[in-house]
Amino acid sequence: MKKLNLTINPMDRKSHINREIYGNFSEHLGRCVYDGIYVGENSDIPNIEGFRKDVIDAFREIKLPVLRWPGGCFADAYHWKDGIGDKEKRKKMINIHWGGLVEDNSFGTHEFLRFCELVGCEPYIAGNVGSGTVEEMAEWIEYMTFDGVSPMAELRRKNGREQPWKLKYFGIGNENWGCGGNMTPEYYCDTYRRYQSYCRDFSGNNLYKIACGPNAFDYNWTEVCMKNITAWNMKGLSLHYYTVPYGNWEHKGSATVFTDADYYETISATLQMETLVTRHSEIMNRYDPEGKVGLIVDEWGCWFDVEEGTNPGFLYQQNTMRDAIVAAINLNIFNRHSDRVYMANIAQAVNVLQAVLLTEGMVTVKTPTFHVFDLYKGHQDATLIYSHVENENTEGGVSVPCISHSASINDNGEVLVTLSNCALDKEYEIDLGTAFGQITAAEGRMVTGDARAYNDFTNTDNVVIRPIEVKTENGKASVVLPACSVAAITIKL
Ligand code: AHR
Repeated sequence: MKKLNLTINPMDRKSHINREIYGNFSEHLGRCVYDGIYVGENSDIPNIEGFRKDVIDAFREIKLPVLRWPGGCFADAYHWKDGIGDKEKRKKMINIHWGGLVEDNSFGTHEFLRFCELVGCEPYIAGNVGSGTVEEMAEWIEYMTFDGVSPMAELRRKNGREQPWKLKYFGIGNENWGCGGNMTPEYYCDTYRRYQSYCRDFSGNNLYKIACGPNAFDYNWTEVCMKNITAWNMKGLSLHYYTVPYGNWEHKGSATVFTDADYYETISATLQMETLVTRHSEIMNRYDPEGKVGLIVDEWGCWFDVEEGTNPGFLYQQNTMRDAIVAAINLNIFNRHSDRVYMANIAQAVNVLQAVLLTEGMVTVKTPTFHVFDLYKGHQDATLIYSHVENENTEGGVSVPCISHSASINDNGEVLVTLSNCALDKEYEIDLGTAFGQITAAEGRMVTGDARAYNDFTNTDNVVIRPIEVKTENGKASVVLPACSVAAITIKL
């Protein structure tokens, strides 16, 4: 078995890893909100005020820090006033982007913010720029955050909420280069300036305004935004990039049935995130050398064909060990770029795309991706430290680096090293050493399995977290990292 050295230097402290990097995204799309998060108070499914209890518990388990809502493309078609007040009387709406289904608006502002309270996460709301008015957006902020006497604050009270909420993250539109209005970057920048002018800080609230950023490789969009709106209260700029094997949107392929070549193409496609984050950051550095504007990767993850027999507009896909490897690689990239990447939100939380949870009736399945978020949660609010691994590339098909890794130190002086081995046919012995001091104790957990292994409603525990043996000797530690695995090693110095 090949040995690879991984060196950490706990004295070389780099950037703060914002816990928001471990965020999720929940859109009114398919069965994410209705069925996934919200089943209604009269449901037989155990719930708290209509929210699935097992989903709340699962999100608490991974310490979900932030949840984005209501879209996505949906956000720029959403009129928030239709989703408040007596549920029986709420206007129905057509979900024009996702299946054309009629929704009853029973999950609206109060429900989303209450759900976040129950989970213990920050809400991140995307406002409607594409089809909404400036007034509508301004009133939404007033409704949620103003504690004085005003038309919107009174309306909120009438709807049963006396105290305003605190709302930090607010997006000025979503994908305004596409489903959010098909704008040019110049037009979007002017629009952003206008809309953001009326998004005010009330009653001690402090909005972190997020501008719509580029679609993947559109570096010009970033350039234009940084040039024109950095000075206009833009705290964050979003970036969207989905992992599609071969970059082929026409034939994305099945989530569960794929060849080894498809697998490595998926890994190769996901590694583009490194290039994207680096290159968009380089542009941002020129306009914002102090790194004040955060890069917000608020949509990322695998996008495959929908499962057979499911509504094509619902984007329901299974989730295998391949997804776990993709999640591990991306989260390591975000950690390593945490000087610029301030938040990331996997798409999506429940039942849509690379979901962390899948639900059907009474059963909730934790996907392999969920387990990666669990393994990595110790990075939240820790400090990135130097780490380097000897690496080698996979053989056969497209060649990709086998090992992905990142390391952080927390306030108790514990080091967390997360690493994955994407090779399908090779295990590695990883020798962990430190540039300063000695490793006195270490323990680890991992997920591993066939790349096509997944959890479903009849076998929820096919892929689970299990211990990985960590040997410590002479101030060093070593682990055997199986093929297709993701591990988290906690080290005491
Ligand atoms: O996550 C699904 C969709 O992908 C979102 O609605 C949109 O923003 C993106 O194109």
